[in-house]
Amino acid sequence: MNETNPHILVVDDDAIVAQSIAEYLRSVEYDADSATSAVAALEMIESADHGRPETRNPYSVLIVDMAMPDMTGLDLIKSIHRSHPDIVPIAITGFGTIESAVKAIRNGAIDYLTKPLVDEELLIAVEKAVNQHALIAENVNLRQQLDQRYGMDNIVGSDTRMKHIYDVIEAVAPSKTTVLMAGESGTGKSLIARAIHRRSPRADQPFVEISCGSIPETLLESELFGHVKGAFTGAHVDKTGRFLAAHGGTLFLDEINSASPAMQLKLLRVLQERTFEPVGSHEPKEVDVRVILASNQPLEQLVASGEFRQDLYYRINVVMIQLPPLRDRIADITLLADHFLIEKAADIGRQITAFTDEAMNVLRAYSYPGNVRELENIIERAVVLTKATRIGIEDLPPHVIDNTNPMLLPSGSQSTPSGTMPGEYPPMPLRKALEEPEKQIILAALEANDWNRQKTAEQLDINRTTLYKKIKQYGLEAYGRAG
Ligand SMILES: Nc1ncnc2c1ncn2[C@@H]1O[C@H](COP(=O)(O)OP(=O)(O)OP(=O)(O)O)[C@@H](O)[C@H]1O
Ligand SMILES: [Mg+2]
Repeated sequence: MNETNPHILVVDDDAIVAQSIAEYLRSVEYDADSATSAVAALEMIESADHGRPETRNPYSVLIVDMAMPDMTGLDLIKSIHRSHPDIVPIAITGFGTIESAVKAIRNGAIDYLTKPLVDEELLIAVEKAVNQHALIAENVNLRQQLDQRYGMDNIVGSDTRMKHIYDVIEAVAPSKTTVLMAGESGTGKSLIARAIHRRSPRADQPFVEISCGSIPETLLESELFGHVKGAFTGAHVDKTGRFLAAHGGTLFLDEINSASPAMQLKLLRVLQERTFEPVGSHEPKEVDVRVILASNQPLEQLVASGEFRQDLYYRINVVMIQLPPLRDRIADITLLADHFLIEKAADIGRQITAFTDEAMNVLRAYSYPGNVRELENIIERAVVLTKATRIGIEDLPPHVIDNTNPMLLPSGSQSTPSGTMPGEYPPMPLRKALEEPEKQIILAALEANDWNRQKTAEQLDINRTTLYKKIKQYGLEAYGRAG
């Protein structure tokens, strides 16, 4: 039997039925086995997984009779769908039991066949299932390749700056070193803070995240350090702050640039001495936390303008990770778009496998003020909206199509007609790009000088022979005669 033929398992408690279907499939070049119970089927799937000689390659398609004594066909489908999401089930139902067929489809079967089976219907269903299996396998494969080649955990990006960031993450994760991150909104600061924690010896301890900008200043102190009962109006009970909640683990302080001067002083102390007092208490508490911070404004500038304490800045700026905006790493746009496509399509159980070239060109040319988060939202929306198996330009939001930088669009995919406005040229050799403006400038100069070539050449500061050549090259005589 050919190893590369799709491997199909037929399960029916009626041995004659199971064997005859398998035999028929083998006669049309499939590699098929039969089983007469769900339990036997599970065993065969299991041993095929482990490449045991008696079972050859893993199964791609499972054809299951819905009415079997030991485990129902439906339970088998459910179980396989969970344990082997790449095996595509087809249900066989008795005549007139449409409800069981509907249940089978709802639980992952791609199609159902009613007994007695018709060969052509069986073949069509099997073909469909084999294609489906190939798509699933391709997606899984693509995802593994993406992960291996371009990322760390689920951080995607092959840009050299991103690769450098992976090195930094790996280098700092094992220690307790304070890490400061900077980057526009949506560039992945929270994601990286989590990655550092996950790779650290503190991975099993809490990861606590708090955004200093999202909490009113009056509450932030008690939120971070806790308070004792009666510390202020409304403090009816003791409250543990986030610092203690993160004890043994990692505390991620986002938007540190919006911390008040009083808050900054308190932070400086806890970072230096690893102790603090809850609001309303004089009893110092000790805490062991790894602190990661992020700022969405350049802290050096805030230090220069006196808004951020210099001593705190020095204390936290031990290891600095600067996240580049997405528009500065165009190669990553493609990778991230593919990554989100796989993820979002799997989330809603749809087989959407790629982008059309035009759609990808538009995605690559857009400027992403909201960075990776914005790209993620665009892809999620497209996956939900599209009616095809490939995301097309019509599935992208209008503002993305309108705000793409036409300089980045290859010729033929511009959304505006190739015009004469500077800045509207697709990539092409500079010489060619300069032709149209040059033509317009020479034409305007000729008009202005009443087609006196001597004067025109002088004004343009080129010699007359050059002007003649250009007039010929651009076919400008026609304009002169017409005018
Ligand atoms: N390199 C990346 N690979 C995969 N997903 C990413 C990457 N960067 C960001 N994301 C995803 O983009 C979204 C935004 O990222 P994240 O929340 O980490 O950004 P942020 O810099 O913390 O933004 P903000 O400043 O608004 O808090 C998240 O869903 C995150 O998983
Ligand atoms: Mg964040």
